[in-house]
Amino acid sequence: MKEKIEALRLETETAMAQTETGRGLYELKVKFQTALKGIMSGMKDLVKEDRPAFGKIVNEFKQSIEEKFEARALVVREMEMQKKYASERVDITMPGKSYKAGALHPITLVKNELIDIFSGMGFKVFEGPEIETDYYNFTALNTPKDHPARDMQDTFYLAENLLLRTQTSAGQIRVMEKDTPPIKILSPGRVFRSDDDATHSPMFHQMEGLVVDKGITLCDLQGMLAEFARKMFTSSTKVRLRPSYFPFTEPSVEVDLSCSECGGKGCRLCKGTGWIEVLGAGMVNRHVLENCGVDPDVYTGFAFGMGIERIAMLKYGINNIKTLFENDTRFLEQFED
Ligand code: DAH
Repeated sequence: MKEKIEALRLETETAMAQTETGRGLYELKVKFQTALKGIMSGMKDLVKEDRPAFGKIVNEFKQSIEEKFEARALVVREMEMQKKYASERVDITMPGKSYKAGALHPITLVKNELIDIFSGMGFKVFEGPEIETDYYNFTALNTPKDHPARDMQDTFYLAENLLLRTQTSAGQIRVMEKDTPPIKILSPGRVFRSDDDATHSPMFHQMEGLVVDKGITLCDLQGMLAEFARKMFTSSTKVRLRPSYFPFTEPSVEVDLSCSECGGKGCRLCKGTGWIEVLGAGMVNRHVLENCGVDPDVYTGFAFGMGIERIAMLKYGINNIKTLFENDTRFLEQFED
């Protein structure tokens, strides 16, 4: 019996000294308890008189081993903590991980700036639907079916009378139908045309403006555009109106701004002319007013429409419209404030 106890003591103490984890120590303890039970079960084979003395020996043995387990547990816990500290050590001199904050897209920046400039002149924002009826996009804008001006815009039709709007001008009709003059709205949004090259994209953004009231003239349009040009570009930017044609305006004008690159002397950007075309505009055609129930003998108005990408490209010197849609962060980062 005694030999068995000594053998178990030796075995347990040796193993304990080699155990370096709490888990290992626990497993060793279970193993020891099982072995001890085995020894104790041998008690029944002893003669009665020997049993108390043997019981005492076993108890002392058990107690001394348990104390050793407790002492070892403290050591092992400390070892484990040290290992954990070493593996989780943070080098506070290392540079931190930096997360880039998002920023507004240049198209959004220009759109917001346009809204800022025009709301300063009293314009309110109206956003129409991107899927339009043929009526709002064309017919009510004095462009009935078979009108040659329909060829100016290569349209994506969804059904016979349903299309992706080709121009934010459709918003003019929606506003005039529901509001009575005085009207002063700005209508920004996406438009769609089957068009794709360095300066055209099948989806792009426009900003429409419409003013209807008594006594509105082309001079009001010119004055307002001059203010827009000074604020959007430089204080010396000039505006020039050239006769043009749009079915929904009469007279119609094409609006040029003096070239911001050369100040009007002539350079590559303005193709030597000193002027850059930026938008279409005109006095609202009386047929359009009539289509919306506005009396053209009482009210007049002007309208204008510009491409937001075009303004962004001029303002930031971007020469390919695709860069505005590829969302390459190396490009976009340049517009962070
Ligand atoms: N809708 C025209 C276009 O997309 C731009 C335009 C021209 C809008 C004249 C107008 C306007 O409001 O009066 O080409």
